[in-house]
Amino acid sequence: MKKTLLCLAMTAAAVLSAPAHAADKSVQVIHWWTSGGEAAALGVLKNDLQSQGVTWKDVPIAGGGGSQAMTTLRARLLANDPPTASQMLGFNITDWAKQGVLQDLTPLAEKGNWAEKVPKALQAFDVYKGKWIAAPIDVHSTNWVWANKAVLEKAGVTTEPKTWDQFVTDLEKVKKAGFIGLAVGGQSWQEATMFDGVVLSTGGPDFYRNAFIKLDQKALTSPLMLKAFERMSTLRKYVDPNFANRDWNVATGMVINGKAGFQIMGNWALGEFNHADKVPGKDFLCFNVPGTQGSVTYNSDVFVFFKVGASEKAAQDLMAEDIMSPKVQSGFNVLKGAAPAVLGTSDADFNACGKKAIADLAYADKHNTLLGSMSQGYAVPPAIQNAFYDVISREFNGQITPQEAVKQLAAAAKAQY
Ligand code: BGC
Repeated sequence: MKKTLLCLAMTAAAVLSAPAHAADKSVQVIHWWTSGGEAAALGVLKNDLQSQGVTWKDVPIAGGGGSQAMTTLRARLLANDPPTASQMLGFNITDWAKQGVLQDLTPLAEKGNWAEKVPKALQAFDVYKGKWIAAPIDVHSTNWVWANKAVLEKAGVTTEPKTWDQFVTDLEKVKKAGFIGLAVGGQSWQEATMFDGVVLSTGGPDFYRNAFIKLDQKALTSPLMLKAFERMSTLRKYVDPNFANRDWNVATGMVINGKAGFQIMGNWALGEFNHADKVPGKDFLCFNVPGTQGSVTYNSDVFVFFKVGASEKAAQDLMAEDIMSPKVQSGFNVLKGAAPAVLGTSDADFNACGKKAIADLAYADKHNTLLGSMSQGYAVPPAIQNAFYDVISREFNGQITPQEAVKQLAAAAKAQY
C-alpha cells in the first residue's frame, strides 16, 4: 500500500515537473460533435492523434450549424485565450481569416498537394488570399430524408417518394397509421436545414442559387419563394406537439426507434443510424428531398488553427496532416455519414448511404449543381444567415404567414454585414 502511494506521488511529481515542451504535443479543440454518432466519428481523429503522442483536450459545445460554438470562440478570442483549433463552417472561416488570427497551412498543403485533392468549391473557403487556412475533414449535405422502413411498410408506403406531392401523400399515410409523420427538433437551425431542401425542391438549382447565393431580390420575392414557405407550413402539420427545442439527434432517434416515419436532416443523421447499427435498405431508407435529385446543398466541416505560439505549432501541423490523411478521411466519414473532403478516397468501407453521398457529390460537382448550404453557413455571411433563421422559424411556428415571411426574408437579405 505504502509502496503504491509512493509510486503515485513520484509519478505526479514527474508529471508536474515535466519539461515545458511536453505541452507541445497537445491540442485543445472546440467542436459541436456531441451526439453518439458524432462522438464516435471524432474518436477516429482523436485516437489517431493520441497514437502519435498528441493529447486531445476536448471543448464540445452542442448545436448544429455551430452558432453556440462560434459564440464561445469569439468570447475566447476576445479574452485573448484562443483554442489550438476549432471546427468551423463557410463564411465564418473567411471572417476569421480576415482577422489575421489563423495559422497559414500553405506549406503543409503544398507538401500534401491539397489543391489537387480538395473540390474547388471548398477551396473558395479553405483558401484565403492564396493561403490555405483550413483543413476540410468532410463534405456533408442537407437535402436528405431519413425514413424508418418498418413504419413505412405499416403505413402502406412501398417506395421512397420521388416528388413533393408524393412525399406529402406519404406523410399523410404515416400519420393516419398512428405514427408521427415528420420528426423535427424545434430549433431554428434545424428548421432552416429543412428549408434548404424545400427551396431547392420548389424552385430547382438555379432558383436556389439566385435566392440564397446571389441574394437576388427577384428570386427572393417570387411566387416560388411563397410556395416554399407554404410547403413549410404543410410539413408543420406532420410534426408532433412536443417538438420545441428538441435536439436533432433526438429527432433522428424517433425515426430509428419507429416513432416517426421521416426526418429531413443533413446526412450527419446517418451517423446516428450507423451508431445504432442500423442497415440502409433493411432498417431505414436515405434519399434526397423529393425534387432535389441531382443537386447537393453542401457544407464542409473544417478545422482552423489559431496562432497560439510556436510551441503548439508542431501539434497543430500533426493534426492538420492527420485530418487530410486517407485513414482519417475514410475512417471518420464512414462513421460520420459524410463524403470525404479528399477526392479519390476509396468508398469501399462506406455503406449504401455513404456511397450515395460520395456519388451525389461527384455528380453535382460535374453538373454545376453543387450549392452552398444556406442553413450551414455556405451561402451567406452569418448576419444574413441568422436573420434568415429567424424568419424561417417564425413562419414554421405559425407566428407569421408565408406572405409575411417572403417580405421579411427579402428584407433580411439586404442586411449590412
Ligand atoms: C455540422 C455537422 C454536424 C451537425 C449537427 C453541422 O453544422 O456540419 O458536422 O454533425 O451540424 O451537429
